[in-house]
Amino acid sequence: MPINLTTILGARPQFIKAAALSRQIARRSTIREVIVHTGQHYDANMSDVFFREMGIPAPAHFLGINGLGHGAMTGQMLEQIEKVLMAQKPDYVLVYGDTNSTLAGALAAKKLHLKVIHVEAGLRSFNLKMPEEVNRILTDRISDILFCPTQTAVQQLMAEGFANFGCQVVNAGDIMYDSALYYRQQALLSPSRLPLPAAPFALCTIHRAENTDQPEQLTSIFSALHQLAQHMTVVMPLHPRTRKLMAQHGVDAGPLHLLEPVGYLDMLRLLDQCDLVLTDSGGLQKEAFFFNKFCLTLRQQTEWVELVENNYNFVVGTNPHQILDSALACWAKPFPPAKPFYGHGNTAAFICDFIEQYHQNQLGTGHR
Ligand code: UD1
Ligand code: UDP
Repeated sequence: MPINLTTILGARPQFIKAAALSRQIARRSTIREVIVHTGQHYDANMSDVFFREMGIPAPAHFLGINGLGHGAMTGQMLEQIEKVLMAQKPDYVLVYGDTNSTLAGALAAKKLHLKVIHVEAGLRSFNLKMPEEVNRILTDRISDILFCPTQTAVQQLMAEGFANFGCQVVNAGDIMYDSALYYRQQALLSPSRLPLPAAPFALCTIHRAENTDQPEQLTSIFSALHQLAQHMTVVMPLHPRTRKLMAQHGVDAGPLHLLEPVGYLDMLRLLDQCDLVLTDSGGLQKEAFFFNKFCLTLRQQTEWVELVENNYNFVVGTNPHQILDSALACWAKPFPPAKPFYGHGNTAAFICDFIEQYHQNQLGTGHR
């Protein structure tokens, strides 16, 4: 009998992670996957493009829940996911990362006494004002199998006492590295309709609530980017949240080269050709490293501490002087040799092997 696994996803970074794992699952007869899309991200260029370009299996359920406050969004997802899970009764429910879709999926499953698998467990920013931090701490605590992307994340969970919680904590490597390696070939070998920006250029994304929701923060970041644009092209695929809040706060794009959100293959092409990355994204910080590009993190802290400790990534906050000085300093120096913090690009296979073995053990001990 194959293992029945339901994956709950809904936001852009989850599609990129799912592309690697769902492809690996589809190769095996041992695991049968059903995908539930909460609808958190719904524009064609925030959702469909990834399913199409990356060959992610079509979701069996699309819940259409989005554009709400945290409580309403998470609550409605919880209610709808519970209905799906009650009908399906899967052996495992798998969630990725730290969005509202992650928490709703994990919570719905746990309340039905289903086994929860969390991919990208153990990350912490230690800032409980970030919605992501709340989502990831709660999801970790109720998960049965926690696949950590790094050894630092494993150590963090051990420090929080997870060895006593009856769950499995494993360093599986970073699933985003699988995707970057696999799709890089396709991206670089196939033509794009997106013209490359004039060189030299910096690739920038901003979308985190802590940066977009307060007018002072957003204005400060854009002031830095306008100054940087005197030295190099600044290309910015704009998240819909940021576009809305720029309009609301009266923030002008000025000389920046704005784009609509781009598909993953175009993002990889931009990463390959750019001279520098500036971002508040979690995923993009690592992708900059995968492509040997320095990254300035426009936040007060990052979960990817190994990149900061080894001078690949600089947490510069939102002060315009600090952003500009750091950008120009990074541009002038060579990228140091990379280290294998995130595994070797075989995380999806590792996760599937682990689930198969775990399931065998559960059957053997009569714990199902
Ligand atoms: C969410 C995650 C964040 C993650 C990000 C990835 C939470 C709490 N936050 O933030 O951790 O880094 O996704 O991109 O789960 N919108 C559109 N079209 C879309 C998607 C969103 O217009 O396709 C609009 C929404 O209507 C809303 C705003 O963008 O007004 C924010 O969307 P939301 O899903 O609430 O949070 P994100 O900022 O995308
Ligand atoms: N990304 C993309 N197109 C864009 C912006 C980002 O494909 O226009 C990819 C990016 O390369 C990374 C992922 O989306 O793989 C990161 O998602 P996001 O920054 O939205 O969320 P976070 O990682 O911060 O949760």
